[in-house]
Parts: sequence; C-alpha cells; structure tokens
Amino acid sequence: MGRWNNLNRREFLTSALSAAASFYVLPPGHGLAGELLNPQMRFAPFSFPEEFIFGAATAAYQIEGAWNEDGKGESIWDRFAHTVGKVKGGSTGDVACDSYHRYKEDVELLEKLNLKSYRFSISWPRIQADGTGKPNPKGLDYYKRLTDELLKAKIRPLCTLYHWDLPQKLEDAGGWPNRELAGRFTEYAEIVTRALGDRISHWCIFNEPWVFTFLGYSWGIHAPARTNFAECMRATHVVNIAQGQAFRAMKTVNPKLQIGTAFSMAHCQPATALQEDRKAADRAHALGNVWFVQPALRGDYPAAFPGPNPLEMMGVKSGDLEQCRAPLDFLGINYYRRQLVSAIPPGEGESATGVHNFDAHEGPLTDFAWEVWPTGFYELLMRISHEYKGVPLEITENGCSYLDSPDEHGRVPDERRIQFLRGYLDELGRAMLHSVNVRAYHHWSLMDNFEWAEGYAQRFGLVYVDFRTQKRMIKDSGKWYAKLAETGDLE
Ligand code: NOJ
Repeated sequence: MGRWNNLNRREFLTSALSAAASFYVLPPGHGLAGELLNPQMRFAPFSFPEEFIFGAATAAYQIEGAWNEDGKGESIWDRFAHTVGKVKGGSTGDVACDSYHRYKEDVELLEKLNLKSYRFSISWPRIQADGTGKPNPKGLDYYKRLTDELLKAKIRPLCTLYHWDLPQKLEDAGGWPNRELAGRFTEYAEIVTRALGDRISHWCIFNEPWVFTFLGYSWGIHAPARTNFAECMRATHVVNIAQGQAFRAMKTVNPKLQIGTAFSMAHCQPATALQEDRKAADRAHALGNVWFVQPALRGDYPAAFPGPNPLEMMGVKSGDLEQCRAPLDFLGINYYRRQLVSAIPPGEGESATGVHNFDAHEGPLTDFAWEVWPTGFYELLMRISHEYKGVPLEITENGCSYLDSPDEHGRVPDERRIQFLRGYLDELGRAMLHSVNVRAYHHWSLMDNFEWAEGYAQRFGLVYVDFRTQKRMIKDSGKWYAKLAETGDLE
C-alpha cells in the first residue's frame, strides 16, 4: 500500500530521514538545513504516518448563525456586522451556515470526508451573555450535543475557547486593553472546561491573538474597530496574561487536558539580503509569529522593536510575565502566506517597529489575492520547531479562497484548491521528514462561511454552501482530501 502502516513514530522518522537524505545531495559538512535545499525538489509521493490526523476547522461566528437564540448575548462581531459599512455587502453572521441547527448534517459531512478531527469554537456570549456570571445551560447544551455527535462518529473534537466573538458588554467595559478581562476570560475558560472537559480532551485557548488584537484595536478593520496602537499593545499583554491564567485554571479542572493556542504565522522573508532587512524580518517574526508564544513558553517578550519593547505602554507590571507563563502542550499553527519584509525608519508611516511588510506576488494568487507559495510553509515550520524544540505542533488552519461554484451537474470543480493542498501538504511532509513534529493538519475550512470583513465574498470551504438554501455540496477538493485522509498517501 506504500504507507508507513506498521511503523511507530520513531521508526517512521528514522526511515523518513534516511529517505530524505537519499533524495538530496548535500554539500559536505552540512546538515539538512532548509536554506541549503533546493525548494523545487519534492519528496512526492509522500505517505503520512498512520497516527497522523487529518481534520477541518470552523469558528462559531462564521458558521453558527442563531445570533440571538436561546439566551445568547450580543458579541462584538454582532455589533460590528450590524453597523453599516463595516462588512462587504452589508453581510452579517446572523444566519451564516445555520450550523447551530444543522450541526448533525455538518458532522455527517466530516464523516463523508473521512476526517478524524474537527476544530470548532465556542461562542463566549452563548455561555455568558454579558461575559460574566452564571453559565447559560442552553449554550452549554448545544456544545455538548455537538461534541457527543462528533464522538459518536469517532471524530476528535478540538475546541477553541475564543475565536474573536467577545461579549459586547465586556468591550463596553474596556475590551481586551482592560486588564480585568484576563480574570473574566479565565472564569469563562473554567466554566467551559468544567462542563465539557469530560468529553473534550484537546483545546485551543485563543485563535490568532495577533489578528484579533491588531486588526481589532490598531487597524480598525475587524471588531471592535478601534484604531489606537497603544491600546492594541496593551491588549496583546492582557491576552498573554489571560492565556497563562486560563491554562492553569483549565489544568486545575483536569490535568489531563491537552492545551495550546492557534497562532497565526507567516514566513517572514527579508525583501533583500541587506542586514537591515534581515533584522526587520526578525522583528516581524517576533511580533507577528511568536509574540504570544514566547511569553507562555519562556516568560519574556521577543525583541520586536528597534529599541527595547514598549513594556510601559503595554502596561506590564512586575510579576506579570510569571502570569503569562504556560507550558503549552502543543502549538497550533494557522499558516496562509509569506510576507516580504524591509526595514524603514522607526515611526515612519504606520510602523513603530521599523518594519514594512508586504505581500509577495511571485506565485499564483488565490481569489483573495493571497500568494500561493508552499515552500514558505516549510520554512516557517522548520524555524518554529528549531526555536521551540520539543513542543508538538498541530496545523490548526491552512487553506485558500477560490470562488468555484457548482456546474449544471451539481459538481464543484475546484482544481486550484487541489493544487494548493497538494503543494502545502507536500511541504508539510518535507518538514516532517526533517524531524518537525507535526501530528495533525486541519484544513480551513470545512465549508464556505462568513469571512469576517469580507462577508460571503470569499469561499474557503471543502464543501460548497449555497447561502440561499443552505444546501451543502462536497467540492472536488473535498473528495480529493477525503481520499488522502483515508490512505495517507499524497500523490
Ligand atoms: C484565519 C482565521 O482564524 C479564520 O477565522 C479565517 O476565516 C481564516 N484565517 C481565513 O482568513
């Protein structure tokens, strides 16, 4: 069958590495360093190890709908989407994929796709309408039913506690820049793990903390639409404290839980070989990729500014960094694209970090105009596994938006997504052959859904959703991925 069927992980890695070595002719005296390898060379066909988990991801606000049912409170995304001019086409997540009512159908889709892990998120205002006080039993019940359905189908639930839908009342009380939010969030984390920790073993505390702090509090293009850099930096610190405190609270409820966070990460590539640009790329990596990893794993902030990090502006007090510490059981990586980085004088333009980030357009573009450049994925994985040795990785998101729609036979021929998947999974395989410890891959997304400020103008799904009828149709990429999930063979 051409798989690593009967091998355990160590045997797999040993054989994989010797296979890798025989593929490359390395200059004498060098190890398998990423930069020495010709990125155009491939290991295809690649076989994922038996224990490797294929899954798909979604998030509450993007799929659930039922925005004000069963006692759910208003979230900052409800408020944002209900404000004229914020979301493309005036779209909202009021109904989205209606998954709150159709979750059984969605679990059936996961089964049809042969997937063994489902990453979904819990809507905080469904559990605590105002973000404080007693939990809403109907909210908890929904997630219990969803989880039980998954377990019945032998699909691992991977639950994210916070995928951006803060209760509006907590934003009114100051939002993430307000230190008190760390305590509120920890209480919420405790409530949820008490209620669901018996059936959900794997958790992500946050989804993409960089994105919701920067796009929400500094750039103003996501909820709660604030544009204040100092508040944003404070928010990043409060989120780091919240991550550490929630981690400890959850472990106290159940020490066996496996807890990480899904971090957004890009391959930060210097725009030129100049020393300034290389340094700027390191600062971009520090702020964009590991700003929420390093405080947890090492108890400090990585150097992201040309001078010292602005700890005072961030409101860092003595003892805080101890609070941020959390030996995360795994790092979740959401990977979409590479960034080219050049240095600019600090303070010029928008940048306090002296960094100019821009998108590369060398590779083909998706319909969202994001560059397809699979080797960046490999480079990023190599770097993270080198910097944080020994911590297992899960790919918590990776995917692409293409607008292919059903033809007259009801088939969705999205060949470009298949090519995307092939390319990125191949690079993931290459990283694994170089000892990067990745145990799961979740495609973003299971189905087309509400893409934040883009509304329904982007389609990331393996499953097509007709938003007028809620009919779901597995795309060609879904069928392709289902086969990979079944055999483990990347062809
Ligand atoms: C990352 C986010 O976590 C997810 O919510 C979003 O839809 C995808 N990226 C695509 O932009």
